[in-house]
Amino acid sequence: MIVCIAPLLEGEALARAGALARAARYRDGAETAGWHARAVKHNRQAEPADVAEAAAIVAAALQAHPVFQSAVLPQRLSPILFNRYAPGMDYGPHVDDAVMGTPRLRSDVSFTLFLDDPAGYEGGELVIDSAGGEESVKLAAGACVVYPATHLHRVAPVVRGTRHAAVGWAQSLVRDAAAREILFDLDTARRAVFERLGKSETFDRLAKTYANLLRRWAEP
Ligand code: NI
Repeated sequence: MIVCIAPLLEGEALARAGALARAARYRDGAETAGWHARAVKHNRQAEPADVAEAAAIVAAALQAHPVFQSAVLPQRLSPILFNRYAPGMDYGPHVDDAVMGTPRLRSDVSFTLFLDDPAGYEGGELVIDSAGGEESVKLAAGACVVYPATHLHRVAPVVRGTRHAAVGWAQSLVRDAAAREILFDLDTARRAVFERLGKSETFDRLAKTYANLLRRWAEP
């Protein structure tokens, strides 16, 4: 399940995070890739100290967003990285490391937050290889795409302008992507029923089923 959250950041928060990302110092992105992804990673990665405030803005927005919470069921977030693609840069097909960082985090969900107006650069689509074929994602500044870390994916070459994005991973309470999708659908349905019928008998049945499936699948 690929979920787009638009917007995740807006107004002051988006302007500040974008300005910090554009002003940061950058180094070769290959330094932070796994050994097999290194061969295809051609981008730049921001010095963590220069984007610490921007990372805190993004993490707070993710933790506060109801759709992110419902779709991801985050247990822990990785540090958030900021990358830059100038003309000629790309990131070829790869799968993200399954376990990363200290303390160790199992990457169940990947996310990319777009920071630039898409009209300002050409190329730079995030292309996700899902069961239904390739899905190409290029979103407005401040919008975020969330997808299972189990998918191969790539960033298409930027041919004009510069693309900045924040990326990171979540370890979910629910490891299995299909189970997370069932819970997300059921949560969305129970909220819609609550809107329409209030705390009715139908809502209670759905809420019970949601709670019991989460209880069955959660690994806190
Ligand atoms: Ni990746």
